[in-house]
Amino acid sequence: EKGGYPDFMLKEIHEQPRVIRDTLAGRLVNGRLEIDELGMSPEELDLIDRVYVIACGTSYHAGLVAKELIEGWARIPTEVEAASEFRYRNPIITPTTLVVAVSQSGETADTLAAIRDARVKGARVFGITNVLGSPVARESDGVIYTKANKEIAVASTKSFLGQIVSLTLLALLLAQAKGKLKMNQIRLLFRELADTAEQVEWILAHADEVNEAARACAEARSALFVGRGMGAAIAREGALKLKEISYLHAEAYPAGEMKHGPIALIDEGFPVIVVATKSPVYDKTVSNMQESKARGATIIAIATEGDEDIKAHADHVIYIPKVRDAFSAITASVPLQLLARTIAVMRGCDVDQPRNLAKSVTVE
Ligand code: F6R
Repeated sequence: EKGGYPDFMLKEIHEQPRVIRDTLAGRLVNGRLEIDELGMSPEELDLIDRVYVIACGTSYHAGLVAKELIEGWARIPTEVEAASEFRYRNPIITPTTLVVAVSQSGETADTLAAIRDARVKGARVFGITNVLGSPVARESDGVIYTKANKEIAVASTKSFLGQIVSLTLLALLLAQAKGKLKMNQIRLLFRELADTAEQVEWILAHADEVNEAARACAEARSALFVGRGMGAAIAREGALKLKEISYLHAEAYPAGEMKHGPIALIDEGFPVIVVATKSPVYDKTVSNMQESKARGATIIAIATEGDEDIKAHADHVIYIPKVRDAFSAITASVPLQLLARTIAVMRGCDVDQPRNLAKSVTVE
């Protein structure tokens, strides 16, 4: 049932191109983006003036990516909150607030409680889930299903990518409804989004450097993940993936925060994993890399194919194809998943069944 792979996690990582394709299938109709399941007219969508994305764990990290996209394209202020915080706060909710609840299992206790709370307070709630008819699907006003199919490994991979793609569609839909993007821009973005399926295939076929990079981390006691913008969101997911399956302590920081504390940790051989893809903040990220390198860090860079300069500042470079920054979360996540899994295997961990964790968290 593992389809020839040594573990479910690796099998599921390799399913991601299909997940991207299936999640996008049928969404562009006569050049217009359509998500009928949301049950909201373009006029109603146009009224939305605040978005909360609520979720836990990896799904929360998909929310961080969504914030960049919704604010960037649709220009709607967007907050991302852990469901376990949101439900005990007094968030500002009005009838024009949209709450987007993201949950692979569709049954996470805190996320469900947050949905109920938001609806009582008058918000519109969209669910993004992988499980048909799950409580999140049933209790939301509308739902987008990620087409990951059943995910067995406890550490979420393919459903994370499905969530990002679904949230990207939602961001485009909001931008379309608000007239913030022209139709030809939306079509172009949709095409580039669809192209990420092939780009992920390429990454999976060219992952040799991941093994070398993993060897440099396998004996470490701690690792830092850094990036800026989209890269900062992905760094957080990279650190979570590593700690949950390899039991190696990992933390993520926006790269610009390094010199405000975490750089004190760096000594000879300390692994720093940098998301350094080409983006508007690329140069800034590279200078943070240099600062860590100068203090002896072992640098693993996720970089854009063709970027030869980065080799001067990194011990290991894992290349990924060039994509628009908006889509870099989809591509850059994949080598980080592979890295976490390879390190966990090297450390002798059970990657599919990490200790103390359960696939679905139905109690708080
Ligand atoms: C990490 C992981 C967890 C879940 C979290 C939320 O790999 O899988 O952090 O993302 O427990 O679960 P869902 O998405 O089912 O609500």
